[in-house]
Amino acid sequence: MNIRVHLASKTLRLRPNRRIRSPIHTNNTTIGFNPSRRSELHQYNSLSPNRAYGMLYSAKNTVLGREPDSAPSTSGTSTPSKRIFAPTGGSDTPGQAVQYAHGTLELSDLAASPLDQFHAWFEQAKTANVYQPETVTLATASLPDGKVSARIVFMKELDERGFVVYSNWGTSRKSADIRSNPQAAMTFWWREVERQIRVEGTVERLSGEEGQLYYDTRIRGSRVGAWASPQSQVLSGREELEQRVKDVEKRFEGQDSIPIPDFWGGLRIVPDTIEFWQGRQSRLHDRFQYTRVGENGTEGEWKIERLSP
Ligand SMILES: Cc1cc2nc3c(=O)[nH]c(=O)nc-3n(C[C@H](O)[C@H](O)[C@H](O)COP(=O)(O)O)c2cc1C
Repeated sequence: MNIRVHLASKTLRLRPNRRIRSPIHTNNTTIGFNPSRRSELHQYNSLSPNRAYGMLYSAKNTVLGREPDSAPSTSGTSTPSKRIFAPTGGSDTPGQAVQYAHGTLELSDLAASPLDQFHAWFEQAKTANVYQPETVTLATASLPDGKVSARIVFMKELDERGFVVYSNWGTSRKSADIRSNPQAAMTFWWREVERQIRVEGTVERLSGEEGQLYYDTRIRGSRVGAWASPQSQVLSGREELEQRVKDVEKRFEGQDSIPIPDFWGGLRIVPDTIEFWQGRQSRLHDRFQYTRVGENGTEGEWKIERLSP
């Protein structure tokens, strides 16, 4: 069932199941409801005007916003519409953002080495059934234009030097960025334990031999796919990719062992800062940042500081 709203001279239709207070006064316009529908609206009268505004449609029928994520302009002039406004993350309390209360973090909880600390948190994430805790946003930036790009990848290894990811280092956007600028950042978000980890550092390529160890663990289709995909290059269509896969399958037909492509492999982010973040109530989160103060980043060569949320 649709609800009609008169906005100036236009009559607009609202989607059903939206709540609104009636009538609504904008700066110079009174927006009312078709009286025949007013009986359906009694349930909306307890809502604030801000929430009610969330369901208005503009005269061009573009959505101004969605209740309860939307709010009106307060400037009195025509401003860009807010398609989303103050979403509350699925909170049970209307209008109030979800609060983080899973745990706390103290200096005394932390290991001297951030890699030990990461490992401990990673194990805790697995115990807490965090979905794929190895999922991480990897950000890179090209020089000299300074454009930043970010994408999700899987962290596949943690060793005594840093965090290893696998990808195409020939054609991908990240590879182009890193060729011009060997700095990268990674951000993990583990919702179930309300923890974020930020890593920043310098990248280095793993050797082919090291990469082969991981490559051999992948299912055959993924090993073939690594050969077949000119990652992030424009394709004429899906068929082009499928033809490339067929060509690679033919090339390695009858061969169990496939060599790792030289344009594909591991990249290690060797951190110079790592931050551990634990969500707290009222956005007063606990944050501790490790900064490398020695050359090798071995134990005792990291400074740990609490950061303001
Ligand atoms: C959950 C998830 C995991 C991913 N893991 C990887 C990965 O480990 N390596 C990779 O190259 N791309 C991975 N991707 C694809 C990347 O997000 C991205 O599309 C690809 O690396 C090309 O990015 P680029 O052109 O910015 O280099 C993953 C995507 C998702 C959603």
